[in-house]
Amino acid sequence: MKVLLTGGAGYVGSHAGWVLARNGHDVWVFDDLSYGHRAAAPAGRLVEGNLMDGDLLVDVMKSKGIEAVMHFAAFAYVGESVTDPGKYYQNNVVGTLSLLDAMRTAGVDKIVFSSTCATYGVPEIVPITEQEKQAPINPYGYTKLVMERVMADYAHAYGLGYAALRYFNASGAASDGSIGEDHDPETHLIPLVLDVALGKRKEILIFGDDYPTPDGTCIRDYIHVEDLADAHILALEKITPGAGLHLNLGTGAGASVQEVIQACREVTGCDIAARVVDRRPGDPPMLVADASLARKTLGWEPKFVGIKPIVESAWGWHKAHPEGYGDRGK
Ligand code: UFG
Repeated sequence: MKVLLTGGAGYVGSHAGWVLARNGHDVWVFDDLSYGHRAAAPAGRLVEGNLMDGDLLVDVMKSKGIEAVMHFAAFAYVGESVTDPGKYYQNNVVGTLSLLDAMRTAGVDKIVFSSTCATYGVPEIVPITEQEKQAPINPYGYTKLVMERVMADYAHAYGLGYAALRYFNASGAASDGSIGEDHDPETHLIPLVLDVALGKRKEILIFGDDYPTPDGTCIRDYIHVEDLADAHILALEKITPGAGLHLNLGTGAGASVQEVIQACREVTGCDIAARVVDRRPGDPPMLVADASLARKTLGWEPKFVGIKPIVESAWGWHKAHPEGYGDRGK
């Protein structure tokens, strides 16, 4: 299929593009490079533009014969969404509305949307099923929940077909070492721990060890980006006009902050210094997916299960690219 990836120069988007291309799809990337990396987009396939430029979106979709969109372009810093919600509602909500309306104009009626476990807030029951109440505790989670709702209404009224994929903690890197994780600023646990192994940071700060978990640190469900990418391709094949899929994407296996750090020590062979500090506001103690619906609906099976193979994959990228894509400040 001819697929347009908004945010296809970003972390998850670039890996989806990589897997799509490997599976014979025709990939185009639409990205304003505000957070993405030129080198992460497939050569000759990047259109630089902002989601608010509806005319450009329509032009790209029509001229490239786009049949479906995968929408990764979003701001995703939970803390920043609290201090600057306007930025998040503008880009994640208004920008996505602009995209959906451009799709209508161009006659493109399929979208795979990057949603998040942050739409659940602090879940009552873990592992989390799709039936769990969606009650975000930050603006970032709300922007994604609002767009799930908008897509349901567009499906009903305009015949849009969509898949809202609720990611747990995306991690790891492409198996050929060509692309990986490079955020600026970096806030995610695994790359920060690996920065300590690389000597780029003195220590890793553990945000709280007094949570109601076995070792007192927060538990998350780390899901490899290639597994996420596979699920996107399978979801694309299952989308039907006028209907939506809502699926959790996780492995169902949780790892605590302490377990992640320990796995990083074993994989890198480095003695990684860690220090416990106060809790980070807004961190739920435990987020683990019940992803049985995605398995059943898509016939999807994550290949990376357990924290060690995921850390090994991430380490391969970080060790070979200690400065990421090396385009900071450009
Ligand atoms: N953590 C630390 N020290 C650090 C960084 C993180 O202890 O220096 C802890 C966090 O407190 C958390 C865990 O490591 O318990 C994972 O933190 P990340 O920042 O890597 O990931 P989050 O679980 O906070 O965030 C992820 C996605 C978000 C999404 C969110 C939903 O990155 O986009 O899950 O809760 F919104």
